[in-house]
Amino acid sequence: MLWRLVKIIFYFLILIFNLQTVHAANNDQQALAIAKQNACLGCHAINKKIVGPSFEAVAFKYKNDSNAQIFLKNKILKGGAGSWGVVPMPANAKLSDADLSLLTGWILRGAPSPN
Ligand code: HEC
Repeated sequence: MLWRLVKIIFYFLILIFNLQTVHAANNDQQALAIAKQNACLGCHAINKKIVGPSFEAVAFKYKNDSNAQIFLKNKILKGGAGSWGVVPMPANAKLSDADLSLLTGWILRGAPSPN
């Protein structure tokens, strides 16, 4: 009886874990597509500096910053300089709030490639 319960809980945990993984992978895929459509990848690479910082460097810089999501959404929208040097990022005024959230969440996770 108890063993059966343990088994049910075990399978349930596996299910939850898989659902979360699928959800994150979907978000990664969408975020990458948005980044490509908006030419972000012309100035940013995942793991090396181009014109702007690598997305891994951005994730590292803000890893303990609880305001990073809000700050970076606004920064991507409006552009500007000062965090990484004097070269400014142009504004991306046509991105929706939902797209900004997806992009920022993905970048703060180190911009993982969807698998
Ligand atoms: C023309 C080149 C260019 C394009 C296109 C560009 N960026 Fe940037 N980005 C930069 C530069 C330069 C910086 C550094 C700005 C600074 O020092 O504050 C930057 C900084 C950033 C940062 C870190 C901001 C901070 O204050 O730490 C994020 C996040 C970012 N870009 C995301 C994006 C996303 C997402 C897109 C596409 C919607 C994009 N960038 C498009 C050049 C670009």
